[in-house]
Amino acid sequence: MSGKITFTLNGTLVSASAKPTTPLLFALRNTLDHKGTRLGCGEGHCGACTVVLDGFPVTSCNLPLSAVEGKNIATVEGILDAGHPLIAALLTHQAGQCGYCLPGILTRAATMIDAGDTVDTIRDGLDANLCRCGAQGRILAAITDVVAQRDTQ
Ligand code: FES
Ligand code: FES
Repeated sequence: MSGKITFTLNGTLVSASAKPTTPLLFALRNTLDHKGTRLGCGEGHCGACTVVLDGFPVTSCNLPLSAVEGKNIATVEGILDAGHPLIAALLTHQAGQCGYCLPGILTRAATMIDAGDTVDTIRDGLDANLCRCGAQGRILAAITDVVAQRDTQ
C-alpha cells in the first residue's frame, strides 16, 4: 500500500507518495526528480547511490523510504548548489573518466571534509565507493587539496 512520506531534501520539505518499502533512491529519481544520485549495484555494495542522512553518508538503494520520514536528506544536487570546493578540485585534477561514481564519491567525501575528517579517514570511508575507471588516485589528490585548504583556514 502506498503512503506519503515527508522529509527534508536539501533544505526543502518534500513528500513522496510510494510504498514504504520503496528504496529512497527510486523515490529521489522517479518521484522527486533528483536524478543526480545513481543506481549501480542496487545492493549496497558500490556507493553510486550515496546520500547523506542526518549528516551521515548512507547508501540509498537499500534504504526504505519509510526510514527517512521526518529526517534530513542531502544529495549531490545540494552539494553542487552549495558550490562545495571539492567540485573545483575534482575538475582541476581531472578526477574522473566516465564519471558514474562521482556523485556518490563527491557526496561522501564532501560530507566527511565538512565534518573535519582527515584524508586518511576519508580514504577509508571511500572504501564504500567503487570507481571502476581507476580514478581513485586523482580523486584522493583533489580531496587532499581541499582538506589542506580547510586546515589552513
Ligand atoms: S547502487 Fe547503492 S550501493 Fe550500489
Ligand atoms: S570515473 Fe568511471 S567509475 Fe569512477
